Amino acid sequence: MKISVTKCDLALVETDLLALPFSSIELEKEAGMTLAVLGFDLRVLKDFKAEAGEVVLLYGGSGKYSASRIALLGLGEGKSLDDWRKAAVSFAARTVEMKLENVAVDCSGIENFAVSTGQNVAILAAAFVEGCFGGSYKFDRLKSGKLDKKKSSSKSKGISELLLRVNAGAFKESEKGVAEGKIVGSCQKMARDLVNLPGNYLQAADIAKAAEESGKKYGYDVTVFQKKEIEALGMGGLLAVNKGSDHPPAFIILDYKPKGKVKSVVALVGKGVTFDSGGISLKPSENMGEMKSDMSGAASVMGAVEAAVRLELPLHIIGLIPATDNMPSATAQQPGDVITTHSGITVEVGNTDAEGRLILADALSYGKEKYKPDVIIDIATLTGACIVALGYAVAGFFSNNDKLAEEIFQAGQQSGEKVWRMPLWDLYDEQIKSDVADFNNTGGRGAGTVTAAKFLEKFIDGHNNWAHIDIAGPSFSPKGAGKVNGGTGFGVSLLLEVLKKMS
Ligand code: BES
Ligand code: MN
Ligand code: ZN
Repeated sequence: MKISVTKCDLALVETDLLALPFSSIELEKEAGMTLAVLGFDLRVLKDFKAEAGEVVLLYGGSGKYSASRIALLGLGEGKSLDDWRKAAVSFAARTVEMKLENVAVDCSGIENFAVSTGQNVAILAAAFVEGCFGGSYKFDRLKSGKLDKKKSSSKSKGISELLLRVNAGAFKESEKGVAEGKIVGSCQKMARDLVNLPGNYLQAADIAKAAEESGKKYGYDVTVFQKKEIEALGMGGLLAVNKGSDHPPAFIILDYKPKGKVKSVVALVGKGVTFDSGGISLKPSENMGEMKSDMSGAASVMGAVEAAVRLELPLHIIGLIPATDNMPSATAQQPGDVITTHSGITVEVGNTDAEGRLILADALSYGKEKYKPDVIIDIATLTGACIVALGYAVAGFFSNNDKLAEEIFQAGQQSGEKVWRMPLWDLYDEQIKSDVADFNNTGGRGAGTVTAAKFLEKFIDGHNNWAHIDIAGPSFSPKGAGKVNGGTGFGVSLLLEVLKKMS
């Protein structure tokens, strides 16, 4: 997608579709005038309510504009960044639906909008571009197109050119925003692609390869521990989960050091289960295919690290990804097994389907010991219980540090990837006691999201600036749940926002 900013007269903009955004307030005050000047029938204002994301197409008019089509684009009340983003997403989705490739948006009001939303021009421009990446996203890599009547129709080209028209005073900031939006948008796309790739296309080694490619391209270090090294490090959690698999595990480390001064050392840990069958504690077969998304935490760490590198944030960031699938077989770990994790802590495996916490345990204790980070954040599709608690739109999170918790909450509000804090009270420890080992990996029926977090807490070795984010809900949209199906890339923008706050 080629994206540019122009100060050029709107009448001269040649494009397949020109969007004119209106908030509901502008709609009352100005829309009539604008449309009258352009020679459009004002009856359209009976249909267009300027609801966030609403798109109404207009044809005809006086021909004053060179654009082939005009669209009215709703911004809601014009007071929230979320609505602005929503407008961008649905504008892009519509252009893709209509197979239009060159599109433009009248952002002449972006400065006013910055005031009414309490944001700035660069942030709005970035969000619009991000929204366009999101709304035009398609995962069609695995479509052969063989049965399509028209040869080109199954693989959409998406938007090839996007033009933002701004006033001279907003030009520089808009260009800055566009550059950032492109980076974030493409990192989200990378994450979504990884999530959408099914188990037979994405094994631990493939995640490692994707990380290595990104590292090479953008100049940061990627190290991959193979099974031998994982054994030597005593990562008993990762090895236990991998026991049932025909594919070797990988422990992937992304390491970015900025050129200048380091403000903070941040460890980001992402769950990389390429497919979660449950293991011997097999999941029901209905919708089991969705468990190809069980490496969404890994994908969001990869996306956030790459974005941070490309934005040259002044942080030393270490991404840690334990990767494997979770399969049943004669060699698989069995319920009741006791394993020894990297930390030396022993765990009774009450349920082989609680595998995420076993591999994260190793990554957390290794990351803490090896890098002595100032902050540790892990992100994982960890519990179905989190979907029961908060649904598909919102992630649950935990932190043992109120300042970090507030930063993560605010990052959620700003990025639109909303998170809600849950408690880490010790009274929940009762549920993960074991008779034979230090802990059990399951905590029974109640508070499944909390007991998973309490389990992880055992492996940070007293670190006092840790957070755990459970993205089981928002990482993947089951078919028919909303406009987006499949991987959402949730976490990339959230983590990046947290990192920017630390910069
Ligand atoms: N990957 C799942 C959690 C999950 C469920 C993510 C649904 C996304 C959608 C995780 O490994 C799991 O199976 N958790 C178990 C834990 C239980 C056995 C204690 C769960 O949530 O049922
Ligand atoms: Mn599981
Ligand atoms: Zn899982």
